[in-house]
Amino acid sequence: MEILKDISALRLWRQAQTKVGFVPTMGALHAGHLSLVEEAKIHSEQVLVSIFVNPTQFDQVADLEKYPNTLDADLKKLKTAGVDAVFLPDFDQLYPDDYRYQISENDFSMALCGAHRPGHFDGVLTVVMKLLQLSEANQAYFGEKDYQQLRLIRGMVKAFFLNVDIIACPIVREADGLAMSSRNLRLTQEQRAIAPQLYQIIRSGHSIERMQRAIEKAGFELDYLTTQGDRLLVAASLGEIRLIDNVPYDNLVSLNKNNKHTKVKQA
Ligand code: PAF
Repeated sequence: MEILKDISALRLWRQAQTKVGFVPTMGALHAGHLSLVEEAKIHSEQVLVSIFVNPTQFDQVADLEKYPNTLDADLKKLKTAGVDAVFLPDFDQLYPDDYRYQISENDFSMALCGAHRPGHFDGVLTVVMKLLQLSEANQAYFGEKDYQQLRLIRGMVKAFFLNVDIIACPIVREADGLAMSSRNLRLTQEQRAIAPQLYQIIRSGHSIERMQRAIEKAGFELDYLTTQGDRLLVAASLGEIRLIDNVPYDNLVSLNKNNKHTKVKQA
């Protein structure tokens, strides 16, 4: 597995490759990330992973500072998974403009997580655009857990005619149903015991109001619980750890015909 520490090493590596599948990450890798790698191995000839904790997408300094860093373990996992190369850029390399130039979307990015995390999606879209340009990836793989991110990235690829296929991969869950996330590492034992209830509640088929009450009763602070297309999306915090999750909604609606819910605009 090649370790590419700068842009020139990446460019040199890329010149010798054919069909590159790219998995962008912020490290602290778990089985969810590895499922993206597995998918990339199926569809692409070479697999490139980036690890870069992107400061421009953090709206809270404390969240950025506490973001888990497990680089040695990450590299071991990627090597075992059969990844061809890992790109490890630093801020100065990715942001020679010091973030004066940005990609922003001015509609859907303001809703849901965007409404609670100002500037978050500008940071995500900007770094993903940079990474797609640099990697010249043929396919790029994103998890459905970050549903809004996925939708916005698809929109950006279409808007800017980027020559890359965006491939969505299903949410990977712990045995108790908690959606895998690097932030789960920061849950206390007590919070970790409560966390799986979020998934149990949103797949219950109850009305939105009843689910809202159940989420709050379990001890979460709810940011939103709403439908978007055919999904039911939730964001809720346990202490300072914010969790997001989503489930297909159509089946649930048929379970409860009297459901009332708020619809938000499609991207
Ligand atoms: O989903 C993530 O881990 C990040 O938002 C991404 C896509 C790697 C951009 O920093």
